[in-house]
Amino acid sequence: MSTTTLSAYLAQNQAANPALTTLLEAIAAVSQDISAAVHKGALGGVLGSAETENVQGETQKKLDIIANDMLLEALARTGVVAGMASEELDDCSPVPGQADKPYLVLFDPLDGSSNIDVNVSIGTIFSVLNNPGTGEITNASFLQNGRKQVAAGYVVYGPQTSLVLTLGQGVCAFTLDREAGQYVMTTESMQVPADTKEFAINMSNQRHWYPPVQQYIAELLAGKTGVREKDFNMRWIASMVADVHRVLTRGGIFMYPKDLRDPNKPGKLRLMYEANPMSFLIEQAGGQSYDAATRIMDIEPTDLHQRCAVMLGSANEVERVARYHAG
Ligand code: AHG
Ligand code: MN
Ligand code: MN
Repeated sequence: MSTTTLSAYLAQNQAANPALTTLLEAIAAVSQDISAAVHKGALGGVLGSAETENVQGETQKKLDIIANDMLLEALARTGVVAGMASEELDDCSPVPGQADKPYLVLFDPLDGSSNIDVNVSIGTIFSVLNNPGTGEITNASFLQNGRKQVAAGYVVYGPQTSLVLTLGQGVCAFTLDREAGQYVMTTESMQVPADTKEFAINMSNQRHWYPPVQQYIAELLAGKTGVREKDFNMRWIASMVADVHRVLTRGGIFMYPKDLRDPNKPGKLRLMYEANPMSFLIEQAGGQSYDAATRIMDIEPTDLHQRCAVMLGSANEVERVARYHAG
């Protein structure tokens, strides 16, 4: 059993970069507070709707706002963050007087909101960028493609609370030891197998999909008797964090394709604080991540809250469905 704590891991790997260590330690610490709030559930009065709307027109849950406020406060205090952007904020939040600090952080404070009230795994997703250093921090400061990420990760609040992190040299998973109040490394190098028999997609949207996705999923559903000549199994948790955690743990393909419902919404998931950090993790673990025929981290962002299609996970499956799109 490993005894490498997250703090020891950061000290080893980031000795030359104390500012990034400070930032990641702050995320780890605040995620323990979010985890404690999630754990209390109804007893802590954190369930249910806040009856407010975010910039995407989604009704916010109490925990969306609680987690968002906790992250904003904790990161502002680090002294190394110049500004933040979040799913729950219309515009970025520059840290007053800190425009010269080295990092910008984007986050989805609480992912899987529809699962909060039903005691199903939820999470926090984060992406760290360099401050471009152009003076004032504005939304434009954050519009950097996914390849520019310095670090990315998520925390999944499930049967265990786990923090999964990449600094661009592989992917490590840490499990929260509640008694000790620290994260301990439990997987040193997560690897997504190239092949899989498991897929994740919201099948209720089937009638809205474009032909490449229709074809791909029909082939999976045909199983042994179809062109794929093997049976596939389906899982859909509806918390991206939990679905991606399964893919990172045992392989699979996760898809939220763009569909015909609303031409203004090219997919449901958001590029900057959902798709990019997850793509960084998946590629660092040997998997692939595409929007349709384009690798997600190659997309040049134009808006803080822009959406994109997501197809990520086991390389051979993701590359196959990307080929269907390219063709
Ligand atoms: P969020 O709770 O941050 O708005 O994200 C929810 C996302 C994602 O976590 C999940 O994969 C997807 O929405 C679920 O969508 P459906 O409700 O369409 O299944
Ligand atoms: Mn989300
Ligand atoms: Mn969210």
